[in-house]
Amino acid sequence: MADKRPCITVCDAPQVDDLIESFPDMIHSVDAEGNIVYVNRMATELLGYPAAELLGMNIRTLYPPEILDAVARGFSEVKQEGGKRVESLLLAQDGTRIPVELRTIVLRDSQGTFTRTFTVSRDLRPLKELQESLIHAGRLAAIGELAAGIVHDLNNPLTAVILASAILKRQAGSPQASADDLRRQTAAYCETISDSASVMESLTTRLRDFARGVKEQHTPVDLFEPINDARAILAHKFRHGNVRVTCPVPQARHWVLGDRNQLQQVFLNLFSNACDAMAGQATSDLQIGISAETVAGTRYWSCAVTDTGTGIPPELQTKVFQSFFTTKPRGKGTGLGLSLSRTIVKEHNGDLRLRSEPGKGTTFFALLPALPEPEPSRPAV
Ligand SMILES: Nc1ncnc2c1ncn2[C@@H]1O[C@H](COP(=O)(O)OP(=O)(O)OP(=O)(O)O)[C@@H](O)[C@H]1O
Ligand SMILES: [Mg+2]
Repeated sequence: MADKRPCITVCDAPQVDDLIESFPDMIHSVDAEGNIVYVNRMATELLGYPAAELLGMNIRTLYPPEILDAVARGFSEVKQEGGKRVESLLLAQDGTRIPVELRTIVLRDSQGTFTRTFTVSRDLRPLKELQESLIHAGRLAAIGELAAGIVHDLNNPLTAVILASAILKRQAGSPQASADDLRRQTAAYCETISDSASVMESLTTRLRDFARGVKEQHTPVDLFEPINDARAILAHKFRHGNVRVTCPVPQARHWVLGDRNQLQQVFLNLFSNACDAMAGQATSDLQIGISAETVAGTRYWSCAVTDTGTGIPPELQTKVFQSFFTTKPRGKGTGLGLSLSRTIVKEHNGDLRLRSEPGKGTTFFALLPALPEPEPSRPAV
């Protein structure tokens, strides 16, 4: 009987060279001293140097100065371990910092002595741009939520303004009112109008601030702020779903280095998911708390968001973090909330985990590195 297995052809060396040369990712090799001994065409295109200039150049020249210590440590680990995969930054000739994923393996001679590395570097800019636009899309969806809440909250101060101005108008035209009475009452009603206008202004400012871009800006953030922002944005949803929120998180106590807008988005996703998981239940409790946790010598703030909802079955507890995984009906969920939240938390050098018991509820833990010495006097950014 004829062998039906597919025939595997072994490429000869020139073909492999062509493949490496025209590979869509940058490929380079360095010797034991870190001097570049090979680059493919993509390396020259990505970095903007001609091949002749790259060959012989020390690889340190291609990294930003602030990560050189980490690069040196990584290089000795690669030599020892035989390979490594890391995210890093490369410095192009024109000074552009290019985020890359480096996959390195070590080539050794027959005695096992290190000869050179073989590194494939993938330009992560397209991926980062996609992530940013997805984060922005999530933000737009949240604006709808915020706008619904704001429309609701605008009603009270607006009614006060309409009533006060109607009374003022009536009194101004009243022949019985004394000048003194008129002055006193006008002052009181003007105060009501100006207080209500301030409330409305703060509501519209919140909407404007939220809609304004998401450019990542890592500054000291008091976790109270993004948690509080997210609570305010979802106030309408909490009221609508009869969700009782407990949040004994004090102000100016839990500091991290991060982007307030992005952290706000993480809490928005977690709170919103919790509300959805508790929809239609007799009691809906959402608890938000922060505790200190030390993992491998690093101090973290662990922000726990606990609900009394449906829970997540064990077989779905990893899947829920995958992009586009959703159990919500079409039009209700995109399945991006948790995957984006985890990306954001990881970009803050933290982690997003969960613990869940089906039928009882779920806790999500956002672990974020604590600022070594929180300074309570620092302004919230
Ligand atoms: N607190 C929770 N309790 C129970 N299930 C949850 C909880 N949080 C998330 N899930 C499950 O994980 C799935 C994915 O959540 P994720 O936030 O990524 O997307 P989504 O909420 O479905 O859509 P969206 O993109 O609008 O956030 C949800 O559809 C739900 O099945
Ligand atoms: Mg969600």
